[in-house]
Amino acid sequence: MDGNGRWAEQRGSIRSVGHRAGAKAVQIAIEFCLEQGIGSLTLFAFSSENWNRPPEEVSTLMKLFLRMLDTEIEELHRRGVRIRFIGQRSDFAIELRDKMAWAEALTAGNSQLNLNIAGSYGGRWDIVNACRSLLASSPDPEAITEDSLGRHMALAGQPDPDLLIRTGGDFRISNFLLWQMAYTEFWFTPTLWPDITRKELMQAVADFAGRERRFGLTSEQIHGEQS
Ligand code: FPP
Repeated sequence: MDGNGRWAEQRGSIRSVGHRAGAKAVQIAIEFCLEQGIGSLTLFAFSSENWNRPPEEVSTLMKLFLRMLDTEIEELHRRGVRIRFIGQRSDFAIELRDKMAWAEALTAGNSQLNLNIAGSYGGRWDIVNACRSLLASSPDPEAITEDSLGRHMALAGQPDPDLLIRTGGDFRISNFLLWQMAYTEFWFTPTLWPDITRKELMQAVADFAGRERRFGLTSEQIHGEQS
């Protein structure tokens, strides 16, 4: 969800105004997934590296996360959304951690949409964390396989993402779901996150639907399997 800061600066406002506008765009994205029957949405809300931003901006974001948890969760629950948080939970203040745990418990039985919110998350952190967790359960190097390690990653039990949408004009992954994106399709747009619309999300999905995903196979093999 890149571009909140620039969106605000273009309007002569401070960056937190952009983050608040970004929060409204989050609602558009969730609504879009519910409407289209998309099963999972993972939002990169705050990276492991974002803690190094100016303290006022970090503080604004923490207050915004807290407010969103207070104001949005019950409605999301009513809509059948299951919410989970991925990332280094212990980095957050206790009040926020408690609300995250409450939101996860409240919505645990829902299945309309799996909404994963990545906070204090980094793809490298995820891989290291999974290695530690796996080795704690079995120190045998032979036990480390793609499947066993995958079961310790943050999105264990959920499908790998089909499509990554990055707003804000940059062409990079920025330490997002490094392990899980081995075969993810990428879609980049210069649109700043607060300006994202249902129409543009639809364009991204339509573009994705026209791609041939080969997963390392040849085109002939793929078409042979389909016929
Ligand atoms: C990146 O844009 C955005 C963030 C670091 C924060 C994203 C947070 C929200 C959209 C608020 C609510 C979200 C949830 C899911 C609770 P940037 O600040 O790096 O923009 P820039 O590149 O223009 O500076």
